Amino acid sequence: MFETLKTLQPDPILGLMAAFRQDSAPLKVDLGVGVYKDEAGHTPIMAVVREADALHRNEETSKTYVGPPGDPMFNQQIQALILGSDCAAIAENRVRTVQAPGGCGALRVAAELINRARPGAAIWVSDPTWANHVPLLGDAGLEIKVYPYYDAAQQGLKFEAMCAALNQIGAGDLVLLHGCCHNPCGVDLAPAQWDAVAGIAQARGFTPFVDLAYLGLGLGLAEDAYGVRKLAATVPELIVASSCSKNFGLYRERVGALSVISPSVAEADIVYGQVQNVARGIYSMPPNYGAALVGRILAEPTLRSAWNVELTEMRDRINALRSQLAAKFSARLHNARFDFIPAQRGMFSFLGLSKEQVQRLKVEYSIYMVDSSRINVAGINQKNIDYFCDAVCAVL
Ligand code: LMR
Repeated sequence: MFETLKTLQPDPILGLMAAFRQDSAPLKVDLGVGVYKDEAGHTPIMAVVREADALHRNEETSKTYVGPPGDPMFNQQIQALILGSDCAAIAENRVRTVQAPGGCGALRVAAELINRARPGAAIWVSDPTWANHVPLLGDAGLEIKVYPYYDAAQQGLKFEAMCAALNQIGAGDLVLLHGCCHNPCGVDLAPAQWDAVAGIAQARGFTPFVDLAYLGLGLGLAEDAYGVRKLAATVPELIVASSCSKNFGLYRERVGALSVISPSVAEADIVYGQVQNVARGIYSMPPNYGAALVGRILAEPTLRSAWNVELTEMRDRINALRSQLAAKFSARLHNARFDFIPAQRGMFSFLGLSKEQVQRLKVEYSIYMVDSSRINVAGINQKNIDYFCDAVCAVL
């Protein structure tokens, strides 16, 4: 049966995890896959997650199915977390949220839903975008098109070119936007730029689709949700795929959600039924455990404030590392080449290195990053920061 299949190259991001684990060098640095690491280089279980886990285990009385939409408490809490409890679309009963197996699950379910409504619809993604967007959306049948985004020469945003491209897109097409902490480049839209994009979406009639995988890891929960909330208040129809992998540290538990805002209650109900039917045909029902913890943490005020404190610590650590990296590079190079790092948001930055330089860092220094020179800033700590900066300067 499978003799027709060819051997594939390892996944560009996940392949790095395996290569790093196999490397026996004493000082190896993992800046590859986007998982938060603490100062000890460890991806911890959040204390609030342990607390919620103890309560959950004590109170859970059954392991029966949760049903295709998932945990109702989780769905309600996530909706308010993302869109804000004062969101008009929620008050008007036009939002439907279903739990999904991770942000990836939400992206795929959304893509299947879109393909049911408009087979082969075009979805515009930023140049660049997260590598896995292409199979998640494209394999469901959507046509992937690209709009300008990252300005490699300025390490910033090609905002004019982006707007010019969006102004050519019309109703029936979708535009995928990174809600915050752009993956891979770390360059986000400022509030005024979100206002402009929301205005273009409204005028042109395309459907915005927000991928919100890093909420709270950029500037703050409300600040990072500015764009998605602006869109929700501006356009009649919006799709949001969100993840709790990073901001709750629940990566392997696969906790995500798909939220759809529809123009009317009647359409929202149709979408809700269709989404559940899509899920039924892929994985039937989402896993319960991680979402049950998140729902509880968000609903119980003491747990929620403890979560906020831990999330703030993670965000502050990343942002402090950004400033430190820029200062250390500038002290070594006597120029402003890496001054852009503190202006970027979330876990990632593009260093602007060539593939050959990235390869040398891996082979000669056991420093792992994605080929595009995307680094996971959280992988830096006080033990490896000088080693890392020296190595980068050596291969420049
Ligand atoms: C990343 O971009 O590194 C993360 O989102 C993990 C993944 O699945 O690629």
